[in-house]
Amino acid sequence: MTNSPLAGRIALVTGASRGIGRASAVALAEAGAHVIATARTEGALTELDDEVRARTGQPLSLVTAKLENGGNIDRLGAALFERWGRLDVLVHAAAQLGPLSPVGHLDVRDWDKTLTLNLTASWRLIRSFDPLFRRSEAARPIFLTSSVARRPRAFWGAYGVSKAGLEALVTTYAEEVDHTPVRPVLLDPGAMRTRMRAEAMPGEDPITLPDPAELGPLVVDLARPDREPPPFVSFRVWAAEGRGVEPVEPSSAASA
Ligand SMILES: NC(=O)c1ccc[n+]([C@@H]2O[C@H](COP(=O)([O-])OP(=O)(O)OC[C@H]3O[C@@H](n4cnc5c(N)ncnc54)[C@H](OP(=O)(O)O)[C@@H]3O)[C@@H](O)[C@H]2O)c1
Repeated sequence: MTNSPLAGRIALVTGASRGIGRASAVALAEAGAHVIATARTEGALTELDDEVRARTGQPLSLVTAKLENGGNIDRLGAALFERWGRLDVLVHAAAQLGPLSPVGHLDVRDWDKTLTLNLTASWRLIRSFDPLFRRSEAARPIFLTSSVARRPRAFWGAYGVSKAGLEALVTTYAEEVDHTPVRPVLLDPGAMRTRMRAEAMPGEDPITLPDPAELGPLVVDLARPDREPPPFVSFRVWAAEGRGVEPVEPSSAASA
């Protein structure tokens, strides 16, 4: 088995400045992909680039952008088309928790911002990148979801609704591209040691949670062009069941 299963692959990671996105960017780059890393915080992206250069000898492409602005996403799609003509891997990790509050008390701006970033930007990414995915011989768009999408929880209204919408969106898209080599994946990381989790659970000891780096090998597995990823993956199940991704038959890959 080669150490560079993603050699020659073009991968874009959103939310790459910290947490799960950052860990995914490092893992993809170490597996040989060229990574375009995006987030709002330029300094954190530069630090990530320094780390990846030190580990792999290869630079990242860095894009500082707010994803709630759909025009930024469209410009990114156009730039990818011009430079590479395709996109092989997307890890869409950028999101916000928003305030945890009873639904009747949610501020209108907080609701709008959470839905715009977590849901509308995901649709906009698909809209802008679909032609690029279709030009890849094995595109793997991976979207970070949460168990609250399937098990709504008091006070998590805006975030939970945004993730439920994301799951409906990605499942719909997966059906639409079933006849192509595009295989969208929903990835539920479970609780991870990140800033978002600390915001949600301030009383929790972060050391009890997995480091996002533990997700890296799974992200690389899902991104591989020589394997058919399942449409939904839970990190916890993957970790508990021996860290293997069960390949699925091509005909059922996008419809479960
Ligand atoms: N951590 C968990 O326990 C957990 C559990 C289930 C699901 N998830 C999901 O996993 C994904 C990653 O979560 P995380 O815990 O790693 O979160 P995090 O540590 O808060 O990181 C969020 C990332 O999103 C970027 N971001 C935030 N707002 C943005 C905006 N308006 N435009 C562009 N980028 C923006 C942030 O970078 P900048 O601030 O630099 O822009 C940061 O890189 C999310 O989709 C989350 O819902 C996490």
